[in-house]
Amino acid sequence: MFSFQRFSLFLFCSFLSLSSLFAQSSPADSIEIAIDRLMAKMTLEEKIGQMNQYNGFWDVTGPAPKAGADKFKYDHFKQGLVGSVLNVRGVKQVRALQEMVVKESGLGIPLLFGFDAVHGYNTVLPIPLAEAASWDLPAIERSARVTATEAAASGINWTFAPMVDISRDARWGRVMEGAGEDPYLGSQIAMARVKGFQGNDFRSPFNILATAKHFAGYGFAEGGRDYNTVDVSPLTLHNIILPPFKASVQQGVASVMNSFNIINGVPATANRYLVQDILKRDWKFKGVVVSDWGSGVEMIDHGYAENLSQVAALSANAGSDVDMESYAYVNHLKNQVTNGNVSVAVIDQSVRRVLRLKFLLGLFNDPYKYCDSTREQVYAMHPEHASVARDMARRSMVLLKNDQDLLPLKPAGKKIAVIGSLAADKNSPLGNWRLAAKDSSAVSLVEALDAAGVSYTYAPGVQLVAGGPVHFVQELPINENDTTGMAQAISVAKDADVVIMMLGEHGLQSGEGRSRAQLNLPGLQQSLLEAVHKVNPRIVLVLMSGRPLAISWAAAHVPGILLAWQPGSQSGHAIVDVLLGKYNPAGKLPMTFPRSDRQLPIYYNQFSTGRPGPKKEVFWSHYIDEAHTPLYEFGYGKSYTQFSYSDLQITPSKDSVSITVTLTNTGSLKGEEVAQLYIHDRVSSVVRPVRELKGFKKLLLEPGARTSIRFDLPRSAFGYFDAQGKWFLEPGLFDIYVGGSSFASLTGAVQL
Ligand code: GLC
Repeated sequence: MFSFQRFSLFLFCSFLSLSSLFAQSSPADSIEIAIDRLMAKMTLEEKIGQMNQYNGFWDVTGPAPKAGADKFKYDHFKQGLVGSVLNVRGVKQVRALQEMVVKESGLGIPLLFGFDAVHGYNTVLPIPLAEAASWDLPAIERSARVTATEAAASGINWTFAPMVDISRDARWGRVMEGAGEDPYLGSQIAMARVKGFQGNDFRSPFNILATAKHFAGYGFAEGGRDYNTVDVSPLTLHNIILPPFKASVQQGVASVMNSFNIINGVPATANRYLVQDILKRDWKFKGVVVSDWGSGVEMIDHGYAENLSQVAALSANAGSDVDMESYAYVNHLKNQVTNGNVSVAVIDQSVRRVLRLKFLLGLFNDPYKYCDSTREQVYAMHPEHASVARDMARRSMVLLKNDQDLLPLKPAGKKIAVIGSLAADKNSPLGNWRLAAKDSSAVSLVEALDAAGVSYTYAPGVQLVAGGPVHFVQELPINENDTTGMAQAISVAKDADVVIMMLGEHGLQSGEGRSRAQLNLPGLQQSLLEAVHKVNPRIVLVLMSGRPLAISWAAAHVPGILLAWQPGSQSGHAIVDVLLGKYNPAGKLPMTFPRSDRQLPIYYNQFSTGRPGPKKEVFWSHYIDEAHTPLYEFGYGKSYTQFSYSDLQITPSKDSVSITVTLTNTGSLKGEEVAQLYIHDRVSSVVRPVRELKGFKKLLLEPGARTSIRFDLPRSAFGYFDAQGKWFLEPGLFDIYVGGSSFASLTGAVQL
């Protein structure tokens, strides 16, 4: 018997079954299908080509190289033996090279264009360690967004950033590039930077691939000496070094870069445990692992490979997908496959990952997506970016000392002396990773004082650099004996009401290859400081540096100290905003400041030791010639106002522990405070740090205002990774600390 109901049910089911046949596969599935189809057409050589990355080596808009190594490499582009390049940038250049590859190389697989857009591009933001001092995740994300916008507008679709290496040793030049010594803060900042670079939709031509680097352990180089040996316990690896990488992967970072170092005896680029087991198997990372520059060939010097052919097999089998500038894959991987040392399956896995990123970016639909000259004109250095840079720089500065309320300055009617060659330096504020920025493009302190209408007398004092040109790859000659300028500086300082001294490091005294054994004020600056202090102690020291410095003398004698770091393009304006009180500083140290470089490594989340002391006799953990405590601790930073913490309440529940505290602005100015939450596991199966940062909140309070702050910690947050990298939570008694630094004294306890 005919029934309309049954017929319509039949129709509906038929529709469902038909539509399921033609249902749009998910975008991810359709990308995998597209990769399958493309790889089915590729020769083994073309597959290996996708694993090969060259640095730009000729003006791609000019004549092709005619002979030698450049010709050899040039021909590889036409043979489809190059999958990505670095340091080819600018819409004209990128388009020219992309056209050549797409139109003339066999399958025409578009290139990825990489560049170290680490803290800015044309507009330079503060160095990443400075940004970390802001503890301001939205501001840090905004900063990365500006960097991505300018880089993308210039043809770049892959940045080799964020650097997420944790480090406890300020002698290491690359601390400037990271987020300091703490894994929790480092993880939060890593996620903010990945979000800023990648956005939330790769269809946008302003979003670029990010790279979590350097995987892993690079910041633990012994002695803080760059590229040196790394030998750490599994607990340090899993609890301190890896968390920011894991956070980056959870945030969806598109690529991870190997580090130069060995880690526990095996170079990172060939370290199966790191790359295959942890990153790809355990964390399910689906992006691309790119080697660092030459980190493959360096295995020979490490004593881990006899030759480049072995390097190719060791790296590929460990899961390193792309070879940057070792020429191992392009020259030896095919033979290693033929010899059976590397399977085609290994090659296919890596190639799939590279092609996946190219499909995700939409480069097969439009290889010239990042080659819009109008967009380049508008966004490669947009006026709005200057205000973002200035705001980020102000937020990054840390007020270390302000005795006699010397700051903020009230310049009206005051005789102000400005001393120090860095006060007129327009390059050092840009830091080390400023490859795209124009030379001398930073606003200097003296320029900003002029712009603010502040009258002053300037004297450079002794020169920091001993003359001659400075260059990114050359050693920097520091002036150690020419005291020219000292007398003039002293006379300018003598009858001033206040002396602003801008001292610290040249921009090329930190960064890659720039480790320092000493953390003092470089050159003759300490002598200059003490000479000026003799005639006029009313000094405001503006410290410019790419790392924590050992400034004990200044801390003991100078009433005002503002840590400016290397604040980027808007350096001078941001410093003046803070000095004049237009912005109330709120930065907090992301890395411990030592009393002396002989204390290193020194960090807050240390273990107690069996003799924490102090004791009446000498048998406890200390030095007989130096205090064992830091000069300024992790999380420390002052404001022009004051804050107090009270009413700590700790309430455990089934799955979490809620911690509330009252924060009061007890001063007379509006100000921001970073309230920090630390825990301490008193007794556990492996000793735990005396304090561990587990949360922070940055708040703005009007003078006299108070507010309640609440942290909700899941119980899991009280655990740790065991030696096998498994998260381990055990019952016990935990101390809780809340305050404005890692020395927070407001404390309570909770039994879990
Ligand atoms: C450098 C750095 C790395 C950078 C790469 C490409 O040696 O170690 O951070 O991304 O080479 O410039």
